[in-house]
Amino acid sequence: MSIFKQVLYFSVCLNLLVFFGPSSGSTVDDLVRQWAPLVRLSRGEKFLPSNVETFLNNVYVADDKGKPVFPKLDRNVSQFRTKDWSLVTFDSIEKLLNKTDSFLYGKNPTENSVSIYALVTQCNTSAKTPENDVEENGENLYFHVSYWIFYPYNEGKKVCVIGGVPTLQVFNTCLGSLKTLGNHVGDWEHMSLSFVGKNVPQSLYLAVHDTGAYYTYNEQNRYFQFDHPAKRKAVAQIPKFPPILYNQGDHPVIFSANGSHGMWAIPGENQFNKVPKLSDTTGYGVPWKTWNNVKIYHLGLDPLPYWMSFRGKWGNPKTNCLLFKKLGICEYSDGPEGIIRQTQDFYCL
Ligand SMILES: *[C@@H]1O[C@H](CO)[C@@H](O)[C@H](O)[C@H]1NC(C)=O
Ligand SMILES: *[C@@H]1O[C@H](CO)[C@@H](O)[C@H](O)[C@H]1NC(C)=O
Ligand SMILES: *[C@@H]1O[C@H](CO)[C@@H](O)[C@H](O)[C@H]1NC(C)=O
Ligand SMILES: *[C@@H]1O[C@H](CO)[C@@H](O)[C@H](O)[C@H]1NC(C)=O
Repeated sequence: MSIFKQVLYFSVCLNLLVFFGPSSGSTVDDLVRQWAPLVRLSRGEKFLPSNVETFLNNVYVADDKGKPVFPKLDRNVSQFRTKDWSLVTFDSIEKLLNKTDSFLYGKNPTENSVSIYALVTQCNTSAKTPENDVEENGENLYFHVSYWIFYPYNEGKKVCVIGGVPTLQVFNTCLGSLKTLGNHVGDWEHMSLSFVGKNVPQSLYLAVHDTGAYYTYNEQNRYFQFDHPAKRKAVAQIPKFPPILYNQGDHPVIFSANGSHGMWAIPGENQFNKVPKLSDTTGYGVPWKTWNNVKIYHLGLDPLPYWMSFRGKWGNPKTNCLLFKKLGICEYSDGPEGIIRQTQDFYCL
């Protein structure tokens, strides 16, 4: 850009800023970045996030019996009916865990570029494309956005096991042996925001494992307040949700649990009311400014990357199960489903 152009550009920007004020000229994409979360990983977190592409270079596509069907997930494979299929690591999990530089450990997002994936659902379809920048009356600000983070590996929880049965610990002592259950390859975690005609969100949804919580934005205090837990299918784990979720600037600060990456509003020990008693540890580890590397996709408007249409599981099938495989109490459980899901956190009116 020539100096003349720069000056011109600058003064035009300045005029726009004066004319519309700093916020009313926001486009949807600007808001998505402006409100993207600051993710605090846990101190001592070993299983860091990763780009999807790196993961896909290390897995093949297997059918419902675990037999390899394609050496790689690509555009063609995603078009198949893939619901019963899964993405399986070329090397065994044990072998990968033995190598500290294996892709299963992900990358430190403050030292490497790691993407998060923002899926935007525009509620007002009569509003034009999001590139249609200045919308003074806020008519295109009816949308929700889910920020998805991918971790290649989820470390399970240590559980006391006696004779192949998970057991309560007596006076904090395990009379059998401690086993880590519920590890899995592939881990998708997310947080969502809903905008209802304003350039600040109305609500936030924080996903914690199989459940989650809704928070309402308090414009005066500039933080989110707990509203209600998610109504989800039979959930054995009902966490205690913290009452306030703070922002840094406009970025919601969310704490990713050590190893399992459940999202919480505060640092510390976050308890589940579950037997055997489990908790998630969160804390002030690596601060990840996700807005520097957010890939934004407008559902129904943008072409989506091929991997989003894969309907199968993002990780190896369950193995080493206790009792019955059906109960799903396994050393390694199934990988999760992809990020285009039937259940959404927010719906358009
Ligand atoms: C997090 O988990 C790792 C094992 O994966 C452990 O070494 C570390 O101490 C844990 N950090 C905290 C804060 O509990
Ligand atoms: C997809 O399939 C087409 C036609 O069968 C083939 O030409 C192309 O190479 C395939 N692409 C990939 C990425 O496998
Ligand atoms: C992992 O490392 C340990 C100790 O270095 C070794 O005993 C074990 O055989 C290795 N396992 C695999 C699957 O490579
Ligand atoms: C959607 O946008 C149109 C025109 O842009 C407007 O007339 C209508 O009221 C909007 N509807 C909602 C639900 O916001």
